[in-house]
Amino acid sequence: MKKLLWIMSTSVLLSACNIGNEWDNPMPEEGFLIIAHRGASAYEPENTLPSFELAEDLNADYVELDVHLTKDGELIVMHDDDVKRTTEAVGKIKDYTLAELKELTANEEKGKKVADGRRDEEEAYKIPTLQEVIEEMKDDIRFVIELKDTDQYPGIEEKLVGLMKENGLIGADAKGYPKAVIHSFDKKALKQVHKLESAIPLMQLISFDEGEEAEISAKELRDILTYASGIDVSYEALTPPFVNTMHDAGLAVYAYTVDDAEAALRLKAMGVNGIHTDEPDLLGE
Ligand code: G3P
Ligand code: CA
Repeated sequence: MKKLLWIMSTSVLLSACNIGNEWDNPMPEEGFLIIAHRGASAYEPENTLPSFELAEDLNADYVELDVHLTKDGELIVMHDDDVKRTTEAVGKIKDYTLAELKELTANEEKGKKVADGRRDEEEAYKIPTLQEVIEEMKDDIRFVIELKDTDQYPGIEEKLVGLMKENGLIGADAKGYPKAVIHSFDKKALKQVHKLESAIPLMQLISFDEGEEAEISAKELRDILTYASGIDVSYEALTPPFVNTMHDAGLAVYAYTVDDAEAALRLKAMGVNGIHTDEPDLLGE
């Protein structure tokens, strides 16, 4: 009953307020996009160039990656704010210079030889800068860039927007898809990006606890609509009424992180616009 009331009140509120977005490059609402989560990270060390290149080879529509700022102000690509899990060293990224980080090897599985990966060249498994990834990949694939831990990195939003502009990533490609999208759990960071450059499509990441069904208040939804054209939701929580309500509000709905083919097909049938997956070949090519 509570759920029914939520759907009804949200629908009434949306129609009464005629809420809608006007975006230059919204996230596509047609089709079913495959977003390679940290690259093809089921097969190659996450957030490395080989992982992104493999995602392209497997026909992913986007690569997803996470960015942080080094001590000397360089945007680098890594998931954690700390190098311990994915390299042989310890410590926060913000306390390393880029040159120091380049001495490390980005190999997700401790003890796994770099040569076990798709390439033998150790150089390929260095922690990449965002600029290096963009230069290497921008003619071949699109980007979903995640801003995280922004409180540690004052000014990271400006740096990211500046780098996207310099590299011509704002706008749509020949297929009409945005060349790059920013997503984050951090609403403050997304709002800051929107203020700096409203043409960049944004997606609000939303996490629900295990066993919970997706639900957001009408107030929250109205707020999201002021800066984002889509939401990325922990997939187990998604339900058809929630997806329909978000679509009616004008938001694209993406699901993370889906490495189960049956779940991917169920989400597709539900009308979800795409999935983040470690296995871009999950549904075949
Ligand atoms: O694709 C969604 C996902 O990137 C959010 O979580 O922890 O993998 O960055 P995380
Ligand atoms: Ca991420």
